[in-house]
Amino acid sequence: MFREQISDQYLQHIIDASRRKSFDPYKEIDWSVPFDYSYFYMPQDMVSLYGTKLWDQMTREQRVKLSMHEACSALATTIWFENQLSFKLMDYLINVSPLDPHFYWMQIEVADECRHSMMFGEAIKRCGVPWYEPRLSSLIAFFSKYLTSRVAMMLSTLAAEDVTGYLNSRTAQDPECHPVMRELSKIHMIEEARHRGYAHQFLKQNWPRIGKFRRSMAQRYGLLATRIIIWQLVHPDIYKNLGLPAETLEIAKNNPHRVRIRREMSKELVDFLTEIDVVDEKVAPKWRAAGLMG
Ligand SMILES: [Fe+2]
Ligand SMILES: [Fe+2]
Repeated sequence: MFREQISDQYLQHIIDASRRKSFDPYKEIDWSVPFDYSYFYMPQDMVSLYGTKLWDQMTREQRVKLSMHEACSALATTIWFENQLSFKLMDYLINVSPLDPHFYWMQIEVADECRHSMMFGEAIKRCGVPWYEPRLSSLIAFFSKYLTSRVAMMLSTLAAEDVTGYLNSRTAQDPECHPVMRELSKIHMIEEARHRGYAHQFLKQNWPRIGKFRRSMAQRYGLLATRIIIWQLVHPDIYKNLGLPAETLEIAKNNPHRVRIRREMSKELVDFLTEIDVVDEKVAPKWRAAGLMG
């Protein structure tokens, strides 16, 4: 059976880093700032209607409301993904000795994700918006829970971390964004940097070691997972809930500005996957066709 390798020194390095720097969102974030319409909830140019005629006709308050709902939909997607990852990690943990550094790393990663999901849930609650439950949630989760290999799971984890990482870093830097959203994004970025480091290390060490069949399955899954994550970010019910015209979904779908944002969201991921040859000449055209690669 394939046994993955990851250097113990690297694991110890990220374990030590997380002991030095982990955040309790209930203590670190000032939750008293009102969740009203004075700030945007994500960068304006990342809102799905930005750049369209409809956007130009909207008032500032309408735009802010839309940004609030879309930010909360992205948070709900992140929670959904974090839960699936934690499920997988706990499942692996059943067979890991507490004498193995992997044991500590996985416990840390699950603990981080628990705090993140609570922090995101708190923000959704305070915004007073509905829960935008990811579409086909149970079906997709069943697939990721029971039918994916460790390498494939690591690829989709990295995809989710990189895509949401782009949104986090843009939000953290944007003075127009709500202070809680900026703080929450900063915490997530710092803690996720270790998770991404782990996924990078794991893939670098193990990708060259896996067989042809697993490799081609994982390549397919990596692209599919990235498409699913991006597709889930903006729930279509948002437009209906905000009383926007019936054709809004179509307008958002055909918004040329979204093409650029989608590519920017997946850039870091695609660069890394190209570097380690997960995205090779054979699969690159599929990434391009999906609008995820330049
Ligand atoms: Fe997270
Ligand atoms: Fe993570």
